[in-house]
Amino acid sequence: MCGIVGYIGFREAWPIVLKGLKRLEYRGYDSAGIALIDDQNLNIYKKAGKVKELEDFAAEKNLSGSIGMGHTRWATHGAPSDRNSHPHTSQDGQLSIIHNGIIENYATLKEELISRGHSFNSDTDTEVLIHLIEDIYKNNEVDLSEAVRLALKEVTGAYAIVVMDEKNPNQLIAARKGSPMVIGVGQGEYFIASDATPIVEYTKNVIYLNDNEIAFLKRDELEIKHLDNVVQTPYIQELELKLEMLEKGGYEHFMLKEIYEQPRSIRDCMRGRIYPEEGKVQLGGLKEFTDKLKNIDRIIIVACGTSWHAGLVGEYLIEEYARIPVEVEYASEFRYRNPIITEKDVVIAISQSGETADTMAAIEMAKEKGATIFGICNVVGASIPRITHAGVYTHAGPEIGVASTKAFTAQVTVLTLMAFYMAQQKGTITNSKLTELLTELDCIPDKIHAALQSNDIIKEVSAKIKDASNCLFLGRGSGFPVALEGALKLKEISYIHAEGYPAAEMKHGPIALIDEEMPVVFIATKNSSYEKVISNIQEVKARKGQVIAIVTEGDVEVKKMVDYCIEIPDASEAFLPLLATIPLQLLSYHIAVMRGCNVDQPRNLAKSVTVE
Ligand code: F6R
Repeated sequence: MCGIVGYIGFREAWPIVLKGLKRLEYRGYDSAGIALIDDQNLNIYKKAGKVKELEDFAAEKNLSGSIGMGHTRWATHGAPSDRNSHPHTSQDGQLSIIHNGIIENYATLKEELISRGHSFNSDTDTEVLIHLIEDIYKNNEVDLSEAVRLALKEVTGAYAIVVMDEKNPNQLIAARKGSPMVIGVGQGEYFIASDATPIVEYTKNVIYLNDNEIAFLKRDELEIKHLDNVVQTPYIQELELKLEMLEKGGYEHFMLKEIYEQPRSIRDCMRGRIYPEEGKVQLGGLKEFTDKLKNIDRIIIVACGTSWHAGLVGEYLIEEYARIPVEVEYASEFRYRNPIITEKDVVIAISQSGETADTMAAIEMAKEKGATIFGICNVVGASIPRITHAGVYTHAGPEIGVASTKAFTAQVTVLTLMAFYMAQQKGTITNSKLTELLTELDCIPDKIHAALQSNDIIKEVSAKIKDASNCLFLGRGSGFPVALEGALKLKEISYIHAEGYPAAEMKHGPIALIDEEMPVVFIATKNSSYEKVISNIQEVKARKGQVIAIVTEGDVEVKKMVDYCIEIPDASEAFLPLLATIPLQLLSYHIAVMRGCNVDQPRNLAKSVTVE
């Protein structure tokens, strides 16, 4: 939540920072702002709304300066408005700051500062921090670097900040605790950003700042210190990210591009990990823990949102194949309810961004209680992979559409691999069964490609139901998490109220909602619950609901009783979630486009939820 970009070097900062903000807009789009220093003058431009509005607003202004920083905001403290937009400045206007995170003790600090004569122009916690830095700077005879360090020691909460000083246009100061920050290392220039996407076109060399570190960046010099004043040795890594991964590549929206990328992203996720001919799964990230996996009593999966839905699919797969009991928890609930965790437990934390605050807090808590933590993450180098004991990257590539699509199927793929890997280690699966399953899994990318061919039919169905106010998604077994995910996709991008339910639960309440206006989407593929789902479809039809069914290719029985059918290729039950999800993603995409919604940046959302 909130994206930050900084630049110091020999080029004009404005275009670099502006483009960077566009790349980070998925992190929040309530307002945007940029600060530049030109000939000792600090110029700040900020505007409520999207980065484009800032660009238009500043078009005719003085935008020169080779040092600058920018911010795109997801509002926490204070409404989205020009005055609450970052950058914020000190009382005397000399210092400015951008900030991602939350300063939890800002109210106390603000009161103290007011009593010392400070006055504030915004409702934000961020403005309090820059006044605190100024207060220490002016009253303690220390330089600015030291003032920032001392101020951060007084602060509780999470932050990634960049500070600029009008009187020193050869220095940016950056720091992080709990919010991500990457430094790009160029020749005579440095870049700062919340993730590597604004940096990749200028340099591949990056440093991921750790928690409690402050970086002092000059054009030709970088120093990193711990908050305790100990100098750190920076570790420079090479980015694998490619620029073309960040473009729409001819698609109208990132979401559509990402839906269509799934045959490739799932293939990338499995690459080097499955050996169908030998009936073997290899997960390098978990190798060290092979013995542990043979003896675990229980797995707890923690995640939020779509990643939590992937976790539910994981529960079915791990229990079915590895015979290990699994509990799936919302990270936000788990972290606050003193759960019973022992050293024998394995916790699997799932997160696309690797930055979700609740998931991180759940990990820290389980770690303190002695559990072994595995991560499933998409963003390489993010915070979660760095606080887990081991893990498996999903390798889906950057997901820019705010609604998760390819990251979900990649998470499910990793969980499928983990279930098979654990089964293999524990001996709960025969080699011939594993060979059969892996041979089929290897073909899933082609089947997803085939599922995508139903796009035109899905578009027609979308046109028929786009004006609905409510929609139900029903499934059984692992079709239930798919139904939950289908409902979440629809509600978050089209703003149609949607619910996912286990199909059999419908008659315990939701059936009351059904009338001729209500579309009901069934996952009705040929698997162990097929006959039972057919009965549930009949219950809906008897009440005049409009039924859209996701069916197995060639199905005739369901086709006879429903209003619209969308076919997916036949597959074993283990792989049903990977295939059945595809038409639901396309359905919500087309409905949202037809309703004129902003598909890639739905209202009130942000891709990386770094606040609890
Ligand atoms: C929905 C969606 C969110 C995320 C959730 C967790 O499309 O994207 O529900 O799944 O915010 O985010 P991560 O996976 O980054 O931890």
